[in-house]
Amino acid sequence: MMKAALVTEFGASPRYQDVEEPTAARPGQAVVDVLAAALSPRVRSQAAGSHYTSTGELPLIPGIDGVGRTPDGALRYFLLPDTAKGAMAERTVVDLQRSVVVPPDSDPVQLAAVMNPAMSSWIALRRRARLHAGQSVLVLGATGNAGGLAVQVARRLGGAHVVAAGRDSGRLADSGADVVVELDDAEALGRAASEVDVVLDYLWGRPTADALRAVVPRRARDDQPLTWVQIGSVAGPESPIPSAALRAVDLRIVGSGQGSVRTDTIVAELSDLAVEVASGALVTAARAVPLSRVEQAWDEAATTRDRLVLVP
Ligand SMILES: NC(=O)c1ccc[n+]([C@@H]2O[C@H](COP(=O)([O-])OP(=O)(O)OC[C@H]3O[C@@H](n4cnc5c(N)ncnc54)[C@H](OP(=O)(O)O)[C@@H]3O)[C@@H](O)[C@H]2O)c1
Repeated sequence: MMKAALVTEFGASPRYQDVEEPTAARPGQAVVDVLAAALSPRVRSQAAGSHYTSTGELPLIPGIDGVGRTPDGALRYFLLPDTAKGAMAERTVVDLQRSVVVPPDSDPVQLAAVMNPAMSSWIALRRRARLHAGQSVLVLGATGNAGGLAVQVARRLGGAHVVAAGRDSGRLADSGADVVVELDDAEALGRAASEVDVVLDYLWGRPTADALRAVVPRRARDDQPLTWVQIGSVAGPESPIPSAALRAVDLRIVGSGQGSVRTDTIVAELSDLAVEVASGALVTAARAVPLSRVEQAWDEAATTRDRLVLVP
């Protein structure tokens, strides 16, 4: 037996308890000793049964990714498939092809904290918007973990001018963007985004519709392509997009996530991103919490700004 976080009812916090040891069922799989598994909004929605990829299977060990050690001693960052046997356990089974070896001196907690939120903008810019060096990027919702990392990722991928928009002016000031704008200042948002090439949108809901109303009429050139990438929906799952926005300028709205990006495409990007994270080029505020305290961590994750990382 081993210890794990276990969800037996959607909506209830996982409990720390004994479960059966996992076993590798196929060639290409390995049991890893888990060193770190992040408690992200994505994992919270998995454990609540509300994520769009949820299979409804219970009981469920949550955790979609993590850092672990394989029997050969290598340190690996791994992505799990949609499985009820997730990363929040002393051990889990990984597909070696969905994992990458990371430098042996990497910090497992920082790596686990950063990889998923950083991947959201990395994939969006490399695979959905196809950002060219010298282009400019607006991050809509830049004050969370993923949005803050998006500012850093946009720079690392050659973004020449990065605009950060959000509702918390204090955190915006620390974002490292060239220009920061508060969401409710439509005039400033429109001016700052008049020549951006890509929008990375973590908000959706009303703020996205309002941002389109602010940005579209103030575009410097109607025919300059604007790729608006839908990534997160912290402000609401639906947005009343003004139809005229799509006619008035060369606007393309696309999404970026599991499904719209193939799994093998995501896996192909893991190595490059892991190198960036391990080097310390991309950082977020991370805090390790013992797996035995998973119930308290679940409550705390709803309010803290730190990315909590469970450590068995
Ligand atoms: N598609 C993908 O590949 C992918 C991958 C990772 C994450 N995501 C998604 O990205 C989103 C953000 O994830 P995260 O890890 O960054 O979460 P997070 O660290 O909890 O940050 C969310 C931030 O959103 C801000 N916020 C909440 N409501 C807002 C509103 N109405 N207007 C403006 N800002 C608001 C809050 O900042 P303030 O309190 O400072 O305003 C909060 O810090 C989630 O929807 C997540 O599911 C998608």
